[in-house]
Amino acid sequence: MRCVTSVAAMQRLARQWQRRGIRIACVPTMGYLHEGHLSLVRRARRAVGRAGRLVVSIYVNPTQFGPQEDLKKYPRDLPRDQRLCRQAGVDMVFAPGDPEMYPCERGTGFSTWVTEEQLSKPMEGKSRPTHFRGVTTVVAKLFNILQPDVAVFGEKDYQQAAILRRMVRDLNFPVKIIVAPTRREPEGLAMSSRNQYLVGHLRRQALALWQAIRQAQAIVRRARRPVEAGWLKSELKRGIERHPDARVDYIECFDPETLQAMRQVTRGTHLALAVFIGRTRLIDQARL
Ligand code: PAJ
Repeated sequence: MRCVTSVAAMQRLARQWQRRGIRIACVPTMGYLHEGHLSLVRRARRAVGRAGRLVVSIYVNPTQFGPQEDLKKYPRDLPRDQRLCRQAGVDMVFAPGDPEMYPCERGTGFSTWVTEEQLSKPMEGKSRPTHFRGVTTVVAKLFNILQPDVAVFGEKDYQQAAILRRMVRDLNFPVKIIVAPTRREPEGLAMSSRNQYLVGHLRRQALALWQAIRQAQAIVRRARRPVEAGWLKSELKRGIERHPDARVDYIECFDPETLQAMRQVTRGTHLALAVFIGRTRLIDQARL
């Protein structure tokens, strides 16, 4: 397995593979890999087979963090990530530095952005107004650098995956997007690099998100008629905020295609939530 840090070198390699008819799969990540990421790696390998090339990108993308967010303390461990990638049969790690991705020469800053203007508005977009612009821009850049046939994303970030699908469709990227299911800890907590921040009693309180999802599923699956979203959301919020360090940022019930908020909830409606556990902001989602 090789690790490349230069954009030009990576792009050259990808173009060589492409000319030789070798299929390329990529898994974009911000590193500090966990079993959720590795499940995407296995899915990507399945998509292109042994003959294909599998590239994992590891880049903590500054443009998707807000000014008050955790960019500086976001966990990083490239040697460990490389080891995990090698064990998982990855062919190439692409781990560029900031000057490679966002060159800033003689005061000429980076000034071209990719924005999706519909699906990015609600939920995460409302709480983190510049987040998705950073995600779509960096993923568009990664697609131009890695030239993948297939890219795999996680359902955990449901809105992100929906936006990236839309970007690929709207801008005609020749990339097939695969969305893989959320991997959880045995007790239900969705795996996340940010779980690292949850020490001691906070870790236990982080289960509030999964408990809310299970509670919502039980209510909706038991109900004989559609459930009022406003009522459901306030029930869930009450349950979550019984934990002393938990504060709900948002809870939304939405149509899985359009991401539009639903007033009436039935089976098949999606639920997404963002909750602060202490200072750590966690998100989760599931189909009801
Ligand atoms: P990151 O949070 O590192 O996640 C990388 C990929 O792993 C995303 O597609 C995410 O949805 C997926 N993932 C995270 N936790 C998961 C879990 N528990 N189960 C399954 N998949 C999981 O998402 C990003 O990075 C960035 O926004 C990125 C797309 C790389 C752009 O910078």
